[in-house]
Amino acid sequence: MVIPVILSGGSGSRLWPVSREHYPKQFLNLHKDNVSLLQEAALRLKGVTNAGDPIIVCNEEHRFLVAEQMHQLGFKKSQIILEPCGRNTAPALALAALAVAKTDPEAELLIMPADHVIKDVKAFADAVEKGRLLSQQDKLVTFGIAPTSPHTGYGYIKRGQALEGGFSVEAFVEKPDLGVAESYLASGDYLWNSGIFLFKASNYLAALKAYAPDILTNCQAAYEQRSEDMDFLRVAEEAFAQCRSESIDYAVMEHTNQAAVVPMSPGWSDIGAWDALHELRSSEDKENGNAIHGDVMLHETNDSLVYSESRLVAAVGVNNLIIVETDDAVLVADRRQAQNTKLIVNALKAAG
Ligand code: GDD
Ligand code: MG
Repeated sequence: MVIPVILSGGSGSRLWPVSREHYPKQFLNLHKDNVSLLQEAALRLKGVTNAGDPIIVCNEEHRFLVAEQMHQLGFKKSQIILEPCGRNTAPALALAALAVAKTDPEAELLIMPADHVIKDVKAFADAVEKGRLLSQQDKLVTFGIAPTSPHTGYGYIKRGQALEGGFSVEAFVEKPDLGVAESYLASGDYLWNSGIFLFKASNYLAALKAYAPDILTNCQAAYEQRSEDMDFLRVAEEAFAQCRSESIDYAVMEHTNQAAVVPMSPGWSDIGAWDALHELRSSEDKENGNAIHGDVMLHETNDSLVYSESRLVAAVGVNNLIIVETDDAVLVADRRQAQNTKLIVNALKAAG
């Protein structure tokens, strides 16, 4: 049995001003007009054979948004695990694994970030099928994407020997610096980590016990003092707050020798910042390379993203720009500096 786990904890600050702390990117219809990124993730999981209804792990503050978006899709009862504060993905996944292991430790968790786009759902489901051959043999399975640039925001996976369904992992390096990423790209031996994982709940808990026992202990304490009402499972605030903040990549994947990788090419993108959305949405505009949303007029404008929410936005004679208009804020950025939008959000926060 596969239990999908959707991670919906990010704040999406690099997609400001559309993505806000109280209403982050995964709840927005950024990619398609009628479904949010979270809903796309949930729908994609319907294509996976033997998959149960997803568990969603999110911040307490977003509980009604998640519940409502899942109900809209016809999921009658979703289990929603609420974190009182963000502690990154290793603890978030520990909570999901503990909840599942209580009744079925052998169940396989399919970990799905809420902010990804996958164009070819069938190719993705096929990759999961292959991954199951490995997870059933107690592997911690990653799904690898052929890299197209020395991106430093991703994990890199060095392929090892061939196994049924995929490859063993010879090395896993989370977010290397640019020089290292360039050498990995040039070598041709590495894949990007897609951030999607598949493993038995029991194997993830065992890996935490081996490589991050403090995270396991804190999460167990928080989970044991849980309370449940409606679809929501709340873990104890004090115990969870004591847990250190760490991603699964640093806490487990860099250390384990049980990792395997299934290469896949299902048209995957992590909608991390505006440049990723530009890349995804401009693919149809071969002539000018623009991506537009809402009420927009362009003249002699190329390779830009122009996103309007409430007013007409016009651009004349500009290239490589990100222009995002909302009711109370407008962003104008060089497309190559899209990642730095986060700095504005940090400055706004600091200013109170
Ligand atoms: N519930 C919950 N709680 N979810 C979280 C938390 C948290 O505290 N922190 C992050 N998430 C969710 C995010 O919303 C996202 O869906 C997913 O977990 C991954 O977190 P990111 O913060 O987006 O990670 P990343 O993009 O920097 O890196 C990961 O993904 C890359 C691919 O997109 C790593 O796994 C990399 O190795 C990988 O290449
Ligand atoms: Mg991400």
